[in-house]
Amino acid sequence: MFVERSENGLVVHTPAKINLALEVLGRQTDGYHAVETLLVPVRLFDTLVYSATTDPLQFSLRVASQVENTGLDGPPRDNLAVRAIQRLAAISGHEPSGRICLYKRIPAQAGLGGGSSDAAAALVAANVAWGLGYSRERLSRIAAQIGTDVPFFVVGGAAFGTGRGERLVRAPIPAGMPIVLVQPPVGLSTPKVFESLGLAVGEGLGGGTGRCRKLMNCLRRGLPIQRARPLIRNCLQRSAEKLSCWIARASDVMDRLPVLAHQMTGSGSAYFGICRTWREARLVASRLRMQPWQFVAATQTCR
Ligand code: C5P
Repeated sequence: MFVERSENGLVVHTPAKINLALEVLGRQTDGYHAVETLLVPVRLFDTLVYSATTDPLQFSLRVASQVENTGLDGPPRDNLAVRAIQRLAAISGHEPSGRICLYKRIPAQAGLGGGSSDAAAALVAANVAWGLGYSRERLSRIAAQIGTDVPFFVVGGAAFGTGRGERLVRAPIPAGMPIVLVQPPVGLSTPKVFESLGLAVGEGLGGGTGRCRKLMNCLRRGLPIQRARPLIRNCLQRSAEKLSCWIARASDVMDRLPVLAHQMTGSGSAYFGICRTWREARLVASRLRMQPWQFVAATQTCR
């Protein structure tokens, strides 16, 4: 996440993420699923501009792929950046005021963490603009109340996540890994994907296979992706395949392209491939752009 000042206020460029591995261990008593996951930020950024004003909170959205502008409106209640500002205001005693302009490039309902990243950007911006001086740790605890993936973006960098995915430790994953992303024309709902695992409350919760830790160690030691390929797995992919035919389709397409490993990210529906070089990622992306995907990008992991 990069923060800069402009004449319009604070400008925050906030990344997307992919889950290099995701394992579901069981279902907690609070209904959430206990997971282990390896999360890495990728160079695909939303931009949030926050201007501190004394007026009630205003919100405008521009979606890059649709080039639509909803204009300045009252805040939509389901937007995570708006919820983040309202939550921080409630905790700090500050008025939930100001103006959020959000320029979205990260596709929604994709498992790329776009909404969570926007929420983290809003927290970081308001913390500065309101002069709260909260530490990243404190902001991260507030972030966890907004959504599972929000703390990951507040803290920044690659991370190993446990609990429902909100408990994080830094993961030594190299930046600059070439990635190609595709988003099907149909998104997936996170609760529905988790629900279709069919786990009852309290079910499972064993120790898991330790796959995420093993993958983290392989990458730290600089082993080639080909050797780590069996560890690059997402337990939610099967459930997502039951809900959308596009996931298996993405898998088939990637099988026929020069990618080292591929899988769905998070709860989908976006799908990624890891390429040998940046040039190859761009080549694969240009071939995917000839097909009916809603969004295709050549990108890379970042810090
Ligand atoms: O935390 P967040 O609001 O992003 O989660 C959205 C929904 O996804 C939850 O309400 C829950 O249904 C599901 N979920 C889950 N287990 C997780 C994360 C999310 O069941 N570890």
